Amino acid sequence: MIGVGLLGFGTVGGGVYQILKSKKDYIKRKLGEDIVIKKILVTDINKKRKYCVDKFLLTDKFEDIVNDSSIHVVVELIGGEEPSFSYIKAAIKNKKHIVTANKLIMAKHGEEIFRLAEENGVKIYYEGSVGGGIPIIKTLNESLVANKIEKIYGILNGTTNYILTQMTEKKMDFKEALKEAQDLGYAESDPYFDVSGLDSAYKISILSSLSYETFIDVDSLYVEGVEKIELEDIEIADELGYVIKLLAIGKRLEDESLDIRVHPTFVPKNNPISRINGVYNVVQIHGDNVGEIMMYGQGAGEMPTASAVVADIIEVAKNIKYNISNGLINNLQDHRLISIEEV
Ligand code: HSE
Repeated sequence: MIGVGLLGFGTVGGGVYQILKSKKDYIKRKLGEDIVIKKILVTDINKKRKYCVDKFLLTDKFEDIVNDSSIHVVVELIGGEEPSFSYIKAAIKNKKHIVTANKLIMAKHGEEIFRLAEENGVKIYYEGSVGGGIPIIKTLNESLVANKIEKIYGILNGTTNYILTQMTEKKMDFKEALKEAQDLGYAESDPYFDVSGLDSAYKISILSSLSYETFIDVDSLYVEGVEKIELEDIEIADELGYVIKLLAIGKRLEDESLDIRVHPTFVPKNNPISRINGVYNVVQIHGDNVGEIMMYGQGAGEMPTASAVVADIIEVAKNIKYNISNGLINNLQDHRLISIEEV
């Protein structure tokens, strides 16, 4: 039996609970082992929830999870910087493997977390941190490992793509479209991170770190969000044959320096990225051997993100069961921190 402690029971946490419950037998068959949620950390035990959960599973004390020796994997789904960062560090020190969908933590503190994990002999899994249900971390870490990545870019935020799509197709007002994205569970608890482009910046930092084998100083990137885009801009773009998309771009230049940025971009209507709409994200990768690859899928929301998180939980469970030490998972740990001024 592999014991799991969930930190947070919001949109994605609910989805993870639901998948592990509904696919219990299937997982047992595939893995030959049960994956059991032992405890869920919440702020209010008595709050009404979408999913019916046994009360004995809920706790408002992190200590109940970090000190529980039957919990092998801590799944952090609280989001934001604190207390998530402190919880992750404490869990690593208590020899728990970590699964997280927290892009801010992985982008800003990845180097420290990987070092700590290495020191404590545990692994960090973070597929859910970028692109919702798109398996982009595993693709870069494993499937494209025989490639030198020249360029990686795309739409990495579902909320802003949803807003831009609604403004383009329905002439909807920005605020109304944002409200819809929030109601659909796409936006961050503080949607400033979505609309300012910061969420995309965290994600392109993570992808660039993996692609270019270096840590990125996310605070030094050029980041422009969608706050200033008006219906008029979208109409002008349309007349000229373009669609406005918020692109996150990580490019290796000829001199091997990096150009990493986030900004609204005029995308020609005949480019496939112009047709990635709603909550969908897209990632286009250029590798020296494979050439161009494009992956797209739902980039936010309960079930797509939970799908990525559960895949990570199963992966860690498999590694515990077969005692596999996968050197690729922490392969960021040897990289050096660079600032964009250096590139
Ligand atoms: N708020 C994020 C988005 C959630 O809209 O893409 C997924 O990371």
